[in-house]
Amino acid sequence: MAGGVFFKSGKFALSSVQCTKRLVSRTFTTQLTEQQQSIQELARNFADKHLKPHAGALDRAGLFPFEPIQKLTNLGLMGTSVDDEHGGLGLDYLSLALVVEEISRGCASTGMILSIHNFLYANLVNEKGTEEQKELFLKKFTRGAIGCFALSEPGAGSDAANIKTTATADGDYWVLNGRKSWVTSSIEGSAAVVFATFDPELRHKGIACFLVPLDTEGVFRGNKEPIIGVSVCDRAATACDVTLSDVRIPRGYMVGQQGEGFKIAMEQLDQGRIGIAAHAVGIAQAALDTAMNYAKQREAFGKSLTRLASVKDRLTEMCMLVETARLLTYRAATDVSTKNSAMAKYVAGRNANAVADHCVQILGGRGLSTKYSAERHFRDARGTQVYGGVTDIQKRLVGHYLLKEHDAL
Ligand code: CAA
Repeated sequence: MAGGVFFKSGKFALSSVQCTKRLVSRTFTTQLTEQQQSIQELARNFADKHLKPHAGALDRAGLFPFEPIQKLTNLGLMGTSVDDEHGGLGLDYLSLALVVEEISRGCASTGMILSIHNFLYANLVNEKGTEEQKELFLKKFTRGAIGCFALSEPGAGSDAANIKTTATADGDYWVLNGRKSWVTSSIEGSAAVVFATFDPELRHKGIACFLVPLDTEGVFRGNKEPIIGVSVCDRAATACDVTLSDVRIPRGYMVGQQGEGFKIAMEQLDQGRIGIAAHAVGIAQAALDTAMNYAKQREAFGKSLTRLASVKDRLTEMCMLVETARLLTYRAATDVSTKNSAMAKYVAGRNANAVADHCVQILGGRGLSTKYSAERHFRDARGTQVYGGVTDIQKRLVGHYLLKEHDAL
């Protein structure tokens, strides 16, 4: 099928890419370009070779996947959609979604880190930063440095306009004070996009977006949060509080203008939710693969589990849940809008949880055992309905745009 692909950046070249049966059966391949198929295959092979065999151990040890992230950086995948003059591959969002899906299938924690870094940090700087900001906050972030997204606060999650972190002008500097929560990769990250307000009374109209090097004096990174699943927990991907105490950053580190920060955050979350949806699809596919492999090997009532009507029914249901989530995710990545990305995230998160639940049921007692991967998929799936905006917010957004389309608001 697809032949050799040479990216302008020269980051890598594939001499040949086979269109395997698996590829055909798992995606609407005919709608993917040769380049998209190539990047998908690259990420898939990487996940099978470098991630899947170690994901369980990484999760149990609660370690950050430094080596895999470095290898992904070498492949250019930590800047998949960043322009090539800034060190990225310059690929479209669907390519990036394909990468996130495959990497998350191999290791959900690594997929989460890659998703947030690309969709919520690197793409924001690439698309909204000045040339000077890109020089400082983008180039090295396609070469190994990790970027973070700091919007949520202890008192402002779903109600993002209610943030209390303040920004004040002081000569040539902005001074930031406040506390951010659930900042993925904040322990390992080198910089973060931070949203702060000039006047909390103004709600969204007072917010601005800043680029903050995380080694700046006054930045304190808190402890990992001990919660289940990837990222928002103390397993593998780190998410923790970042406290800003009289943090002084140069005036040139503000992205956009005063008052534009909320819009910047919302537009970026429209992208970020595609990333979380793709991440959920990857987790769901991993759960389906686990259940299928187990069912093929295990016998009960004198026959293979796959020949038991109840198990076949569960596998069929899982397949349909994965495919519907995948199609919505690819559609959202191709046609980005608030409604499409919220719908993809809603469905992909819900379906991943249902698929992971079926997986646990099919494995029975082994589904509960930490010696098998089913329980990890179950834990990993849970967060996809929380981070990047809870399910209820996604539904509210879809409902809003649905009624708007029908002049029924
Ligand atoms: N794109 C561009 N502009 C947008 C927008 C979008 N997607 N959404 C809203 N806006 C604009 C509106 O047009 C409006 O502008 P005007 O004042 O010019 O009319 C303004 O923003 C305010 O809009 P709303 O009145 O709709 O704002 P709201 O206060 O009601 O909030 C919300 C809307 C959808 C609930 C929003 O607060 C939201 O998305 N909340 C969830 C936040 C979230 O997802 N947090 C998780 C962050 S990720 C994270 O922390 C880390 C992690 O998980 C890994």
